[in-house]
Amino acid sequence: MLLDDALRAVPVVERFDGPIVDVGSGGGSPGIPLAVALPHREVTLVEAERRKCEFLEDWAPPNARVVWGRAEEQPPGSWGVATAKALAQPPVAAEWCLPLVRVGGTVVLWTGPSVDLAALARVSEHLGGGPPETADGLVVLPKLAATPPGFPRRVGVAKKRPLA
Ligand SMILES: C[S@@+](CC[C@H](N)C(=O)[O-])C[C@H]1O[C@@H](n2cnc3c(N)ncnc32)[C@H](O)[C@@H]1O
Repeated sequence: MLLDDALRAVPVVERFDGPIVDVGSGGGSPGIPLAVALPHREVTLVEAERRKCEFLEDWAPPNARVVWGRAEEQPPGSWGVATAKALAQPPVAAEWCLPLVRVGGTVVLWTGPSVDLAALARVSEHLGGGPPETADGLVVLPKLAATPPGFPRRVGVAKKRPLA
């Protein structure tokens, strides 16, 4: 069920302090269920399509705000946790999400069972992240060091020339 799918991240998210950003929220998952389940956490729902943002505005609980924009354009190092479900191929989603998270935070990706963890490990290392951990079918990338200069790359580059 959609709600259970979003909420299985709660135990992982609770291990890390700070505001949460859900990148590519689309119809609201997992950002809205997480905001409802964790009412004391600030949640930012970042979505590139304006019409989807209007929908998100209607459903966002008081601790969530909606940002119309792209991951690559958001202020780096501003969140404790970044989540992304069905955002892009996992290496691209990791490249978009890791710069948003401060050192000590984490990225949580919803991926399929056949995810290439070695590719994700390469991207993560490149961007200051640690080796991927798996938890309840999610991939967790801890942010261990600052994002290197040159990242995030310009809009469109991560998809055109993925790091892995
Ligand atoms: C397939 S949908 C998934 C939506 C939702 N997370 C879910 O699982 O139902 C991917 C969403 O990511 C948005 N998106 C794609 N690239 C983005 C980017 N670079 N920054 C922000 N949003 C993006 C798209 O507009 C789309 O709404």
